[in-house]
Amino acid sequence: GLPERVTIYEVGPRDGLQNEQAVVPVEAKAEFVRRLLAAGLPVVEATSFVHPRWVPQLADAAELMGLLGDEGVDLPVLVPNERGLDRALELGLRHVAIFGSATETFAQKNLNRGLDEQYAMFEPVVRRALDAGLDVRAYVSMCFGDPWEGTVPVDQVVTAGTRLLDLGATQLSLGDTIGVGTAGHVKALVAGFEAAGVGTDRLAMHFHDTYGQALANAHAALRCGITTFDASAGGLGGCPYAKSATGNLATEDLVWMLTGLGIEHGVDLGAVVETSTWMAGVLGRPSPSAVVRALAGA
Ligand code: HMG
Ligand code: MG
Repeated sequence: GLPERVTIYEVGPRDGLQNEQAVVPVEAKAEFVRRLLAAGLPVVEATSFVHPRWVPQLADAAELMGLLGDEGVDLPVLVPNERGLDRALELGLRHVAIFGSATETFAQKNLNRGLDEQYAMFEPVVRRALDAGLDVRAYVSMCFGDPWEGTVPVDQVVTAGTRLLDLGATQLSLGDTIGVGTAGHVKALVAGFEAAGVGTDRLAMHFHDTYGQALANAHAALRCGITTFDASAGGLGGCPYAKSATGNLATEDLVWMLTGLGIEHGVDLGAVVETSTWMAGVLGRPSPSAVVRALAGA
């Protein structure tokens, strides 16, 4: 059967905004985060402590966390390396996420180092974060297909994912960075992790909707027993280092499906739709989410 309750891990302020060309004012980012929390989203990933030249949109990470104050200390942030961790520690943040690649090419493009070198970069980050009492999530990107390498074998993803978990991460988020995955592939990937001793309780799924499969994939993952899903308000998002990546699974689309299935999520759909509609105004572009389009102004 399907799980009774699901945790939605909101990535709109980070994955959603990181690809936007025009810099969104930091006050608008803070309001975005606050409104998502107020809508009942239990986890809102706020920003990234990456190199500001690599992701100019998130160069204001410290300023944003300063504006959020106490509300921000429990929100996860991306940190690729020790410099990123130091910046997060200086602000007293409690949850960080590292982000590895399942493929050589994307490791080079996104992290400026090879597949093996990425673990060497992450090892001291995770060790020091755990020593400081922080919680560490790990992402693995290109879990289904890669724009340069094509279909990515399940074994290759399991190898990368288990190496990140072995460093000490508590949760592994499996990213379909370019949105090419399909339901059967989701089932095979989850089975691959289970065969390697990684249960669904340690896995999250991170879908992008490039081929319109994100919701079907989420349903397939639910049937496998996955209970944590990454989603982005309004379906914003994409990775600047993977040109074929488009928006994430929209939080509203996911919430609509979960409600229909009678699965508890704790999120106020109307409040998320209002937030995404407001953010679409800030960005000057309508939301790509079908549910937002159907409900906005309804
Ligand atoms: P690098 O150039 O190899 O870094 O970049 P470096 O270690 O050689 O350092 C060079 C300089 O950068 C040094 O300064 C460092 O201090 C500075 P200098 O001594 O020359 O003056 N530096 C930093 N400054 C601020 N914050 C830092 C930092 N690190 C170094 N953290 C690096 C390597 C990893 C930093 C770079 O490649 C980078 O920032 N990459 C981030 C790319 C990114 O954010 N991509 C999007 C997120 S991933 C994603 O979206 C996928 C996901 O959603 C899941 C999915 O969909 O699959 C998670
Ligand atoms: Mg992503």
